[in-house]
This record gives sequence, C-alpha cells and structure tokens, in this order.
Amino acid sequence: ELSPMDKAKFASARRAVDFIEDGMRVGLGTGSTAAWMVRCLGERVREEGLNIIGVPTSTRTAELAREVGIKVVSLEEAKWLDLTIDGADEFDPELNLIKGGGAALLQEKIVATASDRMIVISDASKEVAHLGAFPLPVEVTPFGWPVTRTLIEEVLSSMDVLGRETTVRMDGDTPLITDEGNHIIDCHLNKIGNPRQLALALNQIAGVVESGLFIDICDMVIIGDTEGRVEVRD
Ligand code: A5P
Repeated sequence: ELSPMDKAKFASARRAVDFIEDGMRVGLGTGSTAAWMVRCLGERVREEGLNIIGVPTSTRTAELAREVGIKVVSLEEAKWLDLTIDGADEFDPELNLIKGGGAALLQEKIVATASDRMIVISDASKEVAHLGAFPLPVEVTPFGWPVTRTLIEEVLSSMDVLGRETTVRMDGDTPLITDEGNHIIDCHLNKIGNPRQLALALNQIAGVVESGLFIDICDMVIIGDTEGRVEVRD
C-alpha cells in the first residue's frame, strides 16, 4: 500500500508516461517522483514491447532504468531527445523551476535542454507563487570553490532576494561530489524576485557550472494528488 505522498507522485508519473510513444528518445529524470516514472515506463516497455531509448540524468536513474528493462544510451549516442520527464523541487506559475535537490541538476539541465519537450511531474507541495523557499543549488567546480562561493554571495547581495545565506552540500565530513565531479552550494534565498536575472548573473561567475534555476525549459507540469488524480499545467 502506497503512502499518500507516493500515491500523488505515482499518479503524476503514470500520466506523464502516457505521452511516451513507440520509437521515442526519452530523457529520464532523477528523484523519487522520476523513479516512479522510470518504473511505469519499464512496465510499458515490457508489456507493449515499446522501442524506447532512455537517456538517464544520473547514475542512480541509469541503474534503475536498466533494472526495469529500458534501453539506456548516452546523450552523445541519442544526439537529441523527443521528451524529458523529470521531477522538480519547486515550480512557479510561469513553469520556471528550482531543481537539484538530488544533486543531479547539471545532467538534468543538459538533458532537458536537448529535448523537444520537458514535462515535470510533481505533487502539489512543490507549487509556489515565487521560487526560492527551496534552497537554490548551484553547481561549482572543486577548483577554488570557496572563492566561487564568496563571488556567489556577492552576486546575491545585488539581487532581488530575501535571504543570502549559502551552505556547502556535504557528504559526511567532506563536500558532496556530483556525478560530474563538482560541488554544490545551496543558496537560502527564501524568495527570488527575478529568477531569470539571477540565473544569468550566477552563470557569469567563472567557477559556477550551472544553477538549479530552469527558466523557459519546462513545457508542462503534471500535479498528482493523494487520491490519485492529476492536474495538468501548460
Ligand atoms: C534532482 O537533482 C532534483 O532536481 C529532483 O528533480 C528533485 O529533487 C525532485 O525529487 P523528488 O521527486 O524526490 O521530490
């Protein structure tokens, strides 16, 4: 028996998988909601014999996809994708997102922007009027990362945000290392006045690889509820 939260995640994942057609190249997101989507897609591949190529956005997702029988290839091999389905940490009325709670934002953003379409699967808890209650993850190179952190804080001080604290994402006693070999600085902003401006400003900093702000990338959000119903925003 699924928990109410899992019911909501499953409902959105299940509906998103309906958008996948035979022969598609599909970006596979990361996180607990995306994991439901990968399982649902695996079921369709096994039962309907769909010919699908999956490009995972993390080692975790790659493992799960193989386990459930989805053919996994790299983005180089796939070249371009028809559709990416992924979770998010927050989405606003413009369908701009904060992602990276699972530390996979870089591969997630590359895969999503290499897709004709991105669908986000979510429960209602991630819907916000303004992004920023969820700490914004920023992926930085390990080289000189404390300097990069200071530069991020400097940029934040000139931005329309409510909080300016940053923390380094840890893995035990040492800074976490992402799939791409980088670190994550979480920015505790509470409210982001202008997400587009902030995304551009962060990407100007030399040691910043990417931020978790996804601007104009998502085309549709599917929101599941605890009764198993879904609502579509696009
Ligand atoms: C991974 O880096 C994130 O962008 C995820 O998409 C996000 O954390 C959503 O995960 P859940 O579906 O587990 O909430």
